[in-house]
Amino acid sequence: MPSIETASQPLVSLRDLHLSFGSNHVLKGIDLDVQRGQAVSIIGPSGSGKSTILRCITGLLPTQRGTIRVGDTEVDKLANEAQRIELRKRVGFVFQQYNLFPHLSVLENLVIAPRKVLGRNRADAEQEARALLAKVRMEHKADAYPGQLSGGQQQRVAIARALAMRPQLILFDEVTSALDPETVGEVLTVIRELTEEGMTCVLVTHEMRFAEEISDVVYFTENGLIVEHGSAEQIFQHPTSERTHEFLRHALGDAGRRPVPTGDPFLLSNISRYSLSV
Ligand SMILES: Nc1ncnc2c1ncn2[C@@H]1O[C@H](COP(=O)(O)OP(=O)(O)OP(=O)(O)O)[C@@H](O)[C@H]1O
Ligand SMILES: [Mg+2]
Repeated sequence: MPSIETASQPLVSLRDLHLSFGSNHVLKGIDLDVQRGQAVSIIGPSGSGKSTILRCITGLLPTQRGTIRVGDTEVDKLANEAQRIELRKRVGFVFQQYNLFPHLSVLENLVIAPRKVLGRNRADAEQEARALLAKVRMEHKADAYPGQLSGGQQQRVAIARALAMRPQLILFDEVTSALDPETVGEVLTVIRELTEEGMTCVLVTHEMRFAEEISDVVYFTENGLIVEHGSAEQIFQHPTSERTHEFLRHALGDAGRRPVPTGDPFLLSNISRYSLSV
């Protein structure tokens, strides 16, 4: 089958996407595009469908209507689990819960999927894992176990683990929500650096100032619909919808009181760069 993928097409494209859980109509016609290299944020009230959108992109949920395309994969038409696994090799997903394998060391957490799923040899997989741990400033914990790490450290390892699969894009769902305020910054720093390097990212977050800072495009969702989308400046500074305005006024009432955490500037200046294959 010839590839329909071209450089000008969005990497992710959702059209008129509908999804219900029983009688609960959760997504009511979502249109969303992510271009290669973009950082796209989805913001909106609790229950508005943000996580459901991300799960749809990974092929985890059966949709009722509309289309989902990731690269040249028509996600809504995937017929079996083997095809969905193929898709998930290309789409990294980091959640609020760190979900590392507790019985494996940090290094092994990064090595296992590239070896088992991508068939890479141990030496290569380990070398790349160590480089990725350096990238997220966790190389000194390569032999530790997840239970010995702070939440922020675990989340940085989870991001490195996603990168170890060399994904085309990474989805971040509230990755800092469960963290102490002091460790939020170190995780946001890693995400900021990835976006600066051109990693394609879709981010669901309650860190509004961070979303404003790093996003190329912001979508505001409410009640299963996209209320509006636009550049970060458009949405945060000049929202056209009264609902967006009201939501941001409340959200920034909290976030606005504190600056975006930036992590440890000493470590930032020493980051070892690792070129991503995207
Ligand atoms: N597995 C599920 N089974 C049934 N209903 C679900 C399921 N997952 C989500 N829902 C419902 O779908 C709606 C949207 O949920 P979703 O988790 O996408 O919202 P969200 O915008 O991510 O909210 P939050 O900001 O609280 O994370 C909610 O009404 C939720 O109760
Ligand atoms: Mg959610």
